[in-house]
Amino acid sequence: MTRAISPETVRDWATGRALDLWVVLGEPVDLTAAAKDGAVVRGGDPADPVAVFSAMRETNVLDVRRVGVVTRSPRGVATARCSGAAAVVAIEGTASAGDLLAAEPDVVVDEAAFAGLYATRYGTTRARRPQVLLNPGPALTSDAVKRAAAGVDLCHREPEYESLERDVREKLRRVADVGPSWGVAFISGSGTLATETALRAATRPGKRALIVVNGVYGERLHAMATRAGIDVVVHERDWTEAADPAVVDELMGAMPEIDVVAIVHHETTTGMLNPVSAIAGVARAHGVRVLVDAVSSFGAEELELEGSGIDFVCCSSNKCLQGLPGAAFVLVSPTGLERIETVPPSSVYLDLAGYLRGAETGSPPFTPPIPAVAALDAALDEVLVRGPEAHRRLYAERAAVLDEVLAGVGLEPIVPPERRSRTVRSVPLPPGVDYTVLHDRLKGEGFVIYAGQGALADSIFRVCCMGTLEPAILRDFGSRLAVALEREPAPA
Ligand SMILES: Cc1ncc(COP(=O)(O)O)c(C=O)c1O
Repeated sequence: MTRAISPETVRDWATGRALDLWVVLGEPVDLTAAAKDGAVVRGGDPADPVAVFSAMRETNVLDVRRVGVVTRSPRGVATARCSGAAAVVAIEGTASAGDLLAAEPDVVVDEAAFAGLYATRYGTTRARRPQVLLNPGPALTSDAVKRAAAGVDLCHREPEYESLERDVREKLRRVADVGPSWGVAFISGSGTLATETALRAATRPGKRALIVVNGVYGERLHAMATRAGIDVVVHERDWTEAADPAVVDELMGAMPEIDVVAIVHHETTTGMLNPVSAIAGVARAHGVRVLVDAVSSFGAEELELEGSGIDFVCCSSNKCLQGLPGAAFVLVSPTGLERIETVPPSSVYLDLAGYLRGAETGSPPFTPPIPAVAALDAALDEVLVRGPEAHRRLYAERAAVLDEVLAGVGLEPIVPPERRSRTVRSVPLPPGVDYTVLHDRLKGEGFVIYAGQGALADSIFRVCCMGTLEPAILRDFGSRLAVALEREPAPA
C-alpha cells in the first residue's frame, strides 16, 4: 500500500539528511565527506556475508535503506547487494571496472571522482533528493510503484507482457466502471499524445470538431485539431468560466457537420472542472461523439462513463492514478470504436485503431512503455484495494485540507468553490510577492509549487495535491507557506 510520508520525512528531505551509516568493505576509502554529514563510518570484511548487518547492529542503525557501502572488490559489491544496502559504490583500481560492473553495483567510479559523486548523489546538499511535489503531476508515488517499474525485463511480443497489459486494461475498466466492450489503447508517451491520437481518430474527413476552450489545455486541443487539418468551431469561455451546455446545444443545432466535441474535464490551468456529463448529454442528443481530456482528472474526479455519451477518455499514468510517467492511454466506448473504423488514419504513430487492434491481438504496433505499464499495474492495485470511490474521496478530503491551508494564510483560489477540482488550486500571488522567490523558499523547505500558465503566468501560482500525499504534509506545507509569505514566524 501507499507509504505515508510524515512531516519528519519531509524535514529529512528538505534538509538533505544524508545516509546514517557507510560501511567500507575491504581496503580503506576516504569517507571524510560522509563523516562531515554526520554519518557513522565502519569497516568490514567483503567476504563476510553479514558484514553490513554487523556494522548496523554495532551502530544501532536499524534500516538498511539508511546504509551505504563502498568497496574496491567485486566480493564486497556482492556482499553489499545481498544486504540490500541503499547505495552500493564500487571504486575502480584494485579490481577492473569490468569485474566490478559484473557484480552489479549502483555505480563504478575511480577514487579521484568519488568525492564529486558523493556530493552529487549522497551528500546533504545533493541536488537530486526527494521533495514533496505539489505540481500537477508527475506526482509522488509509493515505493511499490517504483519497485514495479524496476522489475524484470519483458519483451512486448511475449505472452508475459500481453498478460500484464491485459490485466492493466481490465483494472482501468474497473476504475472507470465500464464494461469489457470498452477498448483501452496504450501509447508510449505523455497525456498529450493520448489526446492528439484520439482527436485524429474521432473526426471523420469533411466534418467538424467543436472544441471547448477555457484554459491552456483547451487551447492545446484547438492547436492539435487545426494542425491535423480538422475543421474546427470553438466554444470559448473565460478561464474561470465553465463550458455552457446550452451554447454547445445551439452550435450543434446550427452546424450538423459537427462530428465530435472535445473538452477538457479538469482545466489544470486554473483547477476548474468543466460539466462534461451535461455536455455529453447534449452531444448524445445530436448524435455527436464526445472526447474528454481526462489527463488530470481520471481517478480523482467523478466521471460517469457507461451510457453517458462520452466516447474517448484520454488519460496518463502519472497523475491521479499515482503511477510513473510514460504510459498514455485512451478508453474508447463501443460507439467510439465504431467511429474510428470510419476514419482513415492520418498518422503512422497516432493511429488509435492500430493501438486497439494491437491490444486485441496481443501485438502492440510499437514498443510500449513497459516499465510505466508495470508501475501503473502496481498503482492500480493500490487504487483498487482502497476502492475507486474511496480513492476519489481521499482526493476530495485532501482538496478540502488544501483549501483550509490556503485560507489560513489568507489566500483564495481564483476558481469559485463549486467549480473547483479535487487537485489543483490557482492562487493570486499576493502584492509584492515574486513567484520565483516564493518557489525557491518553499523548495528550500522540501516543497515544489508550480507557476501559473499562459495569461496567468505572472499573476498566480498553483498548488496541487496529487500523489501519495497525506493531509499532515499539506498542513505542514501551510506552515511553511505562511513563513515563505512572511506572514508568521517559522514553526518550531
Ligand atoms: C488537462 C491536461 N491535459 C493534458 C495535459 C498534458 O499532459 P502531458 O504533459 O502528460 O502531455 C495536462 C498536463 O498537465 C493536463 O493537465
